[in-house]
Amino acid sequence: MAKTGIFYGPEKGSVDRVAHYIAKEFGEGKVDLISVNDKEPTLMEQYDKIIIGVSTVGMTNWNSDHLANDWDMFSKGLSEVNLKGKDVAIFSLGDQVTYPEHFVDALGWMADKLEPLGANIVGHVDPEDYDFDESEGFRDGIFLGLPVDEDTEPEKSEERVKAWVNLLTTKFGF
Ligand SMILES: Cc1cc2nc3c(=O)[nH]c(=O)nc-3n(C[C@H](O)[C@H](O)[C@H](O)COP(=O)(O)O)c2cc1C
Repeated sequence: MAKTGIFYGPEKGSVDRVAHYIAKEFGEGKVDLISVNDKEPTLMEQYDKIIIGVSTVGMTNWNSDHLANDWDMFSKGLSEVNLKGKDVAIFSLGDQVTYPEHFVDALGWMADKLEPLGANIVGHVDPEDYDFDESEGFRDGIFLGLPVDEDTEPEKSEERVKAWVNLLTTKFGF
């Protein structure tokens, strides 16, 4: 069986909560939940299938030199990681009402960091269920991963997670 790890950050907010929903949906003991806080990115190489969880909080934070959030720190060592041939699925928390022009941009930022390492980005999601104007996570008519909006549509998170985990397990062997 494929070894699957959910790498998520930051802790204690919506990403953390949704990472736990996803793990629960896979079933007890089926996936490892890893907060990226204080972890080395090379840890990802130990997994056959990888899920990445991130929130979108603006490009300024993301690229800052100061260690603003867990992903900033983790990303610093990313260029040394080899993800050749590995399936990687990304979910991002966002808010489509307050940030309709930047909804879940982090899906795109993440894909752009991971693809050069050899990752095969899977788990694309149809935009039909969302109401947004623009997103860097939206390319060729589809989201590069799963958008989750706990700020304005928390009631939809469970069904979104269920459908996505079903896609990952049935189509991509997670
Ligand atoms: C300062 C700030 C900037 C944000 N910028 C965006 C954004 O550009 N696009 C978006 O979709 N959501 C944006 N959001 C909403 C967050 O992504 C959302 O609240 C998310 O659930 C936070 O997850 P967390 O609690 O795990 O960090 C922003 C939130 C904050 C506080």
